[in-house]
Amino acid sequence: MSTPHNSAAPGAFAKTVLMPGDPLRSQFIAETFLENPVLVNNVRGVQGYTGAYKGVPVSVMASGMGMPSIGIYSHELYTQYGVENIIRVGSAGAMRADLELGSVVAGQGACTNSSFADQYELGVHYAPIADFDLLMAAVESARELGVKMPVGNLYSSDTFYDAAGRNDRMKKMGVMAVEMEAAALYCTAAFLGKRALAICSISDNLVLGTELTPQERQTTFTNMMKIGLEAAVK
Ligand code: ADE
Repeated sequence: MSTPHNSAAPGAFAKTVLMPGDPLRSQFIAETFLENPVLVNNVRGVQGYTGAYKGVPVSVMASGMGMPSIGIYSHELYTQYGVENIIRVGSAGAMRADLELGSVVAGQGACTNSSFADQYELGVHYAPIADFDLLMAAVESARELGVKMPVGNLYSSDTFYDAAGRNDRMKKMGVMAVEMEAAALYCTAAFLGKRALAICSISDNLVLGTELTPQERQTTFTNMMKIGLEAAVK
């Protein structure tokens, strides 16, 4: 029952999957935090692992970049592998000056310029939102870990390079940060009756024009990964 994008055996994934964009980060999370991680998928180098965190089975698999990509992987995990919860652990660009590089935000909602939801032919502008229980579990985990984690709106953009100046307009609307996947994940989960959450580590600040070095990204992202893992086992 493998798919064109996932060669894992049936039952190879845990009920909860942490989903970074970057395959190398998937490997890092599995090797750093999971007990007995086993590589269950490596099609296109999109690494998926299953292991345990605090004795509870948890998987981690990369989403790739952008909404079409996370749309494929999340759809297949939910429909072919019995996955119930996907927690995106990605990076985002802050649209507020007070969001420091390396800080963590949780996406209660995800505005988007994507036409991803058009496939459902809803006839409305659907508001993609996080699963409330997963969000509360992450908020509780962040508090327990002593990590400040603002909760609010994300902007899921189809483009990294913002020729139309939409980032500025989203910023005016109080959106916290821009990334490229949460809205498609939230739509996919809603359509399939599953649960999803996106938490993001701030890799760059669009207001201040600052960004983390690749080395800093690796170390500061551990706060977000711990919050995701703790939420996964609550
Ligand atoms: N992910 C991290 N930083 C981003 C940015 N500035 N725009 C879109 N996605 C991002």
